[in-house]
Amino acid sequence: MTSIPNSATHLTNRDQALLQDAQALGAELSAWRRHLHQYPELSGSEQATAAYVAERLTEMGLKPEKNVAGTHAVLAMIEGPADGEVVALRADMDALPIDEANQVPYRSQNTGVMHACGHDAHTAMLLGATRLLLARRHLLKGSVRLIFQPAEERSDGDDGALALVRAGVLQKPKVSAIFGLHVFPELPTGTLGTRSGPLMASTDRFEVIMRGRGTHAARPHHGIDPILMAAEAVSALHHLVSRRVDPLKPAVLTIGWLRGGKTENVIPDQARFGGTIRTLDPDLRAQFPIWIQQCVEGIAAAHGGSAEFLLTPGSAPVVNEAQATAFAFASLDRLLGVKNMVRLAEPSMGGEDFGEYLMEVPGSFIRVGTRYPDQERAHPLHSPHFDIDEDALVYGSAALATLALDWFDRLV
Ligand code: NI
Repeated sequence: MTSIPNSATHLTNRDQALLQDAQALGAELSAWRRHLHQYPELSGSEQATAAYVAERLTEMGLKPEKNVAGTHAVLAMIEGPADGEVVALRADMDALPIDEANQVPYRSQNTGVMHACGHDAHTAMLLGATRLLLARRHLLKGSVRLIFQPAEERSDGDDGALALVRAGVLQKPKVSAIFGLHVFPELPTGTLGTRSGPLMASTDRFEVIMRGRGTHAARPHHGIDPILMAAEAVSALHHLVSRRVDPLKPAVLTIGWLRGGKTENVIPDQARFGGTIRTLDPDLRAQFPIWIQQCVEGIAAAHGGSAEFLLTPGSAPVVNEAQATAFAFASLDRLLGVKNMVRLAEPSMGGEDFGEYLMEVPGSFIRVGTRYPDQERAHPLHSPHFDIDEDALVYGSAALATLALDWFDRLV
């Protein structure tokens, strides 16, 4: 266990007590995480996970709300002694369709499903923060909304963050800020990191159907060739990022699949392809589908064919609000020491549906280091070998609890 700097001058008595309590919770945090790790469930199928979370919250004396908005979400409120603002803490609970390659005692028991993105750890950290906050309920100058969210990995799902936002989870009661964590194997245990502004990208998907007219390959003039239309469209779409997008704004357009035809001597009726669009800017995100549609329809029309453009919205970019992020740095700098709070220089083009909450209320999404301090590299997220240094659970729990406690104090 990494030692907690209990003689450090930046720590208040309250911080010291909180870190010590978090450390004392270590074995329980690990037991919760390992249980969840052994029984992972895919997005939208988190029945057992939700039941497990609700049982733990009930044991702690809370009255969890289950099946929120027709999903497997579990919500609870920690109410302070007086009315005040509401701050929300969120953890995601779902796993990935991956066969675990680790031979550990807590290996996944559900074949083909694995917590390879650390959502088991996030859930355990939020349960830990709940325990820490309940022991300090008298210090709360408002309430803490706990959100255990399903279906984060299914970015086009109707049962993740967007479903909860639409169901009014941030409005009833009104939440003034939201914080969430994600494990991050690129940072060592004991450190956390984030940045103000864009942190992660939007994740929309699209499909294009190019419709021509099938004919004999030797007589192309009798038909309209959708393979050629698709080839031109794929090539042209790659120019959107370089010619339409402001060079100072990051964007990715990747076409990941292309299908059409069955044999060499037939021109088929249609060809299809699909891809993903990643941006860090909500306005740019809104513009992309318009550009793609213009491009593919124009190319199809030039050939005498037609194009159908289908958009599957994913999640919004994670854009950390400036004041809430400055607050998070101030709070966690004090708790962990400035050298352990990493100012991340760059965002990533990966996605995360926490962005949906941040479109509605201020807040910040924070990465938690989970790499063993003496390890140079760890297996990346979504790898069948992914695992974490469980000491990180202590820091994650303490960080969430501190953010909630400090949020009310910032008003004083
Ligand atoms: Ni994740």
